[in-house]
Amino acid sequence: MMSLGRESNNKLGRKKMGSILQLVVVVTLATFMIPSNANLTSNFYEKVCPQALPLVRSILHREIIRQPRIGASLLRLHFHDCFVNGCDGSVLLDDTPNFTGEKTALPNLNSIRGFEVVDKIKAQVDKACKRPVVSCADILAITARDSISILGGPHLWYNVLLGRRDARSASRDAANTNLPPPFFNFSQLLSNFNSHGLNLKDLVALSGGHTIGFARCTTFRDHIYNDTNINHMFATSLKKNCPRIGGDNNLAPLDPTPAMVDTSYYRELLCKKGLLHSDQELYKGIGSESDKLVELYSRNPLAFAEDFKASMIKMGNMKPLTGNMGEIRRNCRRVN
Ligand code: HEM
Repeated sequence: MMSLGRESNNKLGRKKMGSILQLVVVVTLATFMIPSNANLTSNFYEKVCPQALPLVRSILHREIIRQPRIGASLLRLHFHDCFVNGCDGSVLLDDTPNFTGEKTALPNLNSIRGFEVVDKIKAQVDKACKRPVVSCADILAITARDSISILGGPHLWYNVLLGRRDARSASRDAANTNLPPPFFNFSQLLSNFNSHGLNLKDLVALSGGHTIGFARCTTFRDHIYNDTNINHMFATSLKKNCPRIGGDNNLAPLDPTPAMVDTSYYRELLCKKGLLHSDQELYKGIGSESDKLVELYSRNPLAFAEDFKASMIKMGNMKPLTGNMGEIRRNCRRVN
């Protein structure tokens, strides 16, 4: 009897162990499958370098006064960083013999800018912190948040989550595949955003990033010469500075107030004055969900601010490297 009892006890014990093991496997798998942002926190640098964030903001403020477009360029850098293998500073890496980085991918070549300002901020922050503690990926997230609130006002300020670490590699192919081009139609834009875990509201709200900055003729030429969903006078006025042939790098503002984060971007879409084909795809006047969001943001700056901030935080949470993954780069252009 005794031995039988022990055997069944052992069996029970093995069964219990089995279920515990199963649970551990499921929890571990789930942890890896959920895009992890659990380790990002808003007070990440509070103890190790409390002066870091105020310093980034003050350097950036000075730079924006010197060259107002830099805020737009830095916001775009954060977007292009996050959409390619997560927000890991990979967009900042120069090519090496081991990999071709993202800077020469089609959406980035002769287009993304702001690297010198990132270098300047990184050097001054490392000096103030006495060692490299703030990652390049976090510098992009902080400068994006600060650019928006400096150019838009305090209602656009949000608690940026921090603690990202920097990638040790980058991929031109991944940048070419994952960044949406301006000739995408609405369903292509939406499926691109969906593939990054973002939804329709995120697409319409984040496209509000085009409330600041400029685009080159080459990115909107087809739209002004060949599209019908565009205000005729608006198209004509743009053709002077963007001929059919030549002038590829001539700039036009993405909305009438390119140094101000406001909702005029959405008001322009209502009049078919979106600069890029992809902008105008968000509003066609057919009563779609996207149309309704454009209408809402065009008349309600606070609704835009709330949704934009929430979507920025969501974008910033995309696949960060945390813990002991990646590294804290000393120079944002090179792995350590
Ligand atoms: C929805 C898909 C998007 C497409 C197709 C797109 C495309 C473009 C293109 C073609 C340009 C002009 C680039 C050039 O002329 O060199 C541009 C500029 C810009 N984009 Fe986007 N973009 C998208 C979403 C976003 C998002 C989500 C953000 C940020 C939240 C953003 C922020 C910006 C900014 C700030 C600029 C101006 C940069 C500067 O002046 O230096 N874009 N975008």
